[in-house]
Amino acid sequence: MDALDFGPRKELLTLVRSLRQRLQLDGEAGRPLSYLTRPVDVPGRRGLAITAEATAPAGETGLNGLGSALEEVRKELGECRRCALHRTRRRLVFGEGNPKADLVFVGEAPGADEDAQGRPFVGRAGQLLTKIIEAMGLKREEVYICNILKCRPPGNRNPEPDEIASCEPFLIRQLAAIRPKVICALGTFSSHALLKSEAPISVLRGRFHSYQGIRLMPTYHPAYLLRNPGAKKLVWEDVQLIMKALRNGV
Ligand code: URA
Repeated sequence: MDALDFGPRKELLTLVRSLRQRLQLDGEAGRPLSYLTRPVDVPGRRGLAITAEATAPAGETGLNGLGSALEEVRKELGECRRCALHRTRRRLVFGEGNPKADLVFVGEAPGADEDAQGRPFVGRAGQLLTKIIEAMGLKREEVYICNILKCRPPGNRNPEPDEIASCEPFLIRQLAAIRPKVICALGTFSSHALLKSEAPISVLRGRFHSYQGIRLMPTYHPAYLLRNPGAKKLVWEDVQLIMKALRNGV
């Protein structure tokens, strides 16, 4: 496949290819292929299992109505006024998805659409992220999606260091609650904040780093891909490494 176009036909081809690979790997490993005939519903199971929790509609809190360690983090964040962004935000965007996800995407900060809806990655960049997730053979509900900042910087300006410093403890606690197998840091701000590195994203991407013992893959932000579609090929390379790590149980 060439540079991922994330169009419907390519998505379908990608899904077929992912399924074929998974069937082959599971067959080789002697794992049961029972998911071909019935939905997997193992309580507490992560990842590809589609549980009732994972498919419930996202609620106001982004917790899918779950009582969990994440819920505690959400409660403590409350109607946050720890930095100046609370004055200009419409909605706080905590994050959403599977609280037991194997894979967490961390973006930069909510934009206008996210600010209006209180949900992460629902605008144009979010639609592209959803296509990337689906091209990986996953559903949006199976992963967890959040940001470094929970509130929109006015005019989508870059996050300020004091805003990151106020918000980061909550991201750290979200990641500690989910404890995914892989984190995908979307873009420069997310990669720099999580890795405490100032290296360019072009240097960081393409290989795994470690965040608190969790494998972390930096890659380009979907908003960058909208402006630079040529970089989709590189993102596809990065997410293939993630898919391989998840298939191998990391
Ligand atoms: N960009 C981000 O980094 N996060 C969002 O939630 C939306 C756009």
